[in-house]
Amino acid sequence: MASTKPRNLKEALKGILTAREMQFLRTSYDSVGNIAVIEIMPELERKEKKIGEALLLVNPQFETVCKIAGAHKGFFRVQPVKVIAGKRNKTALYRESGTRLKVDLGKVFFSPRLSHERERISKLIKKGEVVGALFAGVGPFPIVFAKNTEMERAIAIELNPHAVKNMEENIVLNKVSGRVEPVLGDVNKIIPLKYRGKFDRAVMPLPKGGENFLASTIASIKPTGGVVHFYQFVPIEDPFTESLKLIREEAAKQGKKVRIIRKRKVRSFSARTIQVVIDFTVKKAKV
Ligand SMILES: C[S@@+](CC[C@H](N)C(=O)[O-])C[C@H]1O[C@@H](n2cnc3c(N)ncnc32)[C@H](O)[C@@H]1O
Repeated sequence: MASTKPRNLKEALKGILTAREMQFLRTSYDSVGNIAVIEIMPELERKEKKIGEALLLVNPQFETVCKIAGAHKGFFRVQPVKVIAGKRNKTALYRESGTRLKVDLGKVFFSPRLSHERERISKLIKKGEVVGALFAGVGPFPIVFAKNTEMERAIAIELNPHAVKNMEENIVLNKVSGRVEPVLGDVNKIIPLKYRGKFDRAVMPLPKGGENFLASTIASIKPTGGVVHFYQFVPIEDPFTESLKLIREEAAKQGKKVRIIRKRKVRSFSARTIQVVIDFTVKKAKV
């Protein structure tokens, strides 16, 4: 008799989880290429292997299921994960916009959730631009840009040595050596040392605490002008006032003129918090 594939996780776990246990089941998960990452509530830990196997049955494109094994930690925003089903492998191979990215889950931060932002910004980048890809992680922003635009090159600054190692591997994997330059270090130290006034565009995907890097980022833009893409987690009831004030204050301190090109919600984060992006141009004010 042909067996029919269950349509979803709940259906696959019928008879395996009790009705009470079903209430604790999280049915959403993150997909990072060949690996799914799911949250398992403490009430279901005893059955995590079964849940992982059910997820593989419903989604045969995955080879491995990991569970989240702790909160995002420290400056590197690394989230520990543990394999609960499938191949015992935590290196994901993720594909986006013609690129392939190797991601060592549990050692680096990576999120597929800003893929539409990478695509959007790729369409804005002009031939010959030098782009500051700040907080670059394993390289999704600069490598998508290298593959999909005529930029000259991206300087990709990242503090986590393991993410820089993945980024170097990804640069080779995607054949973009020479157009993406990985730099290990702190944005606030590297820019003043080497990249003041050097970028046509800078991307700041550090949603928590990005404001602490506005001064360096504004300083990194060429005196003749350039664009900054600034991401923030903000309160839903007043998403832009504070961020706009910070941008204008910092530009004024540096004797620069700012024009807000676009401000909009990127995604919901929690009941009261959303992620937004503000695109602005900055250039030296005439004296
Ligand atoms: C939210 S993640 C974004 C990673 C990547 N751009 C992506 O979209 O997947 C922020 C990254 O910034 C790095 N980071 C944190 N503080 C930093 C700093 N001061 N200078 C450079 N990188 C930093 C973290 O290690 C992490 O990889």
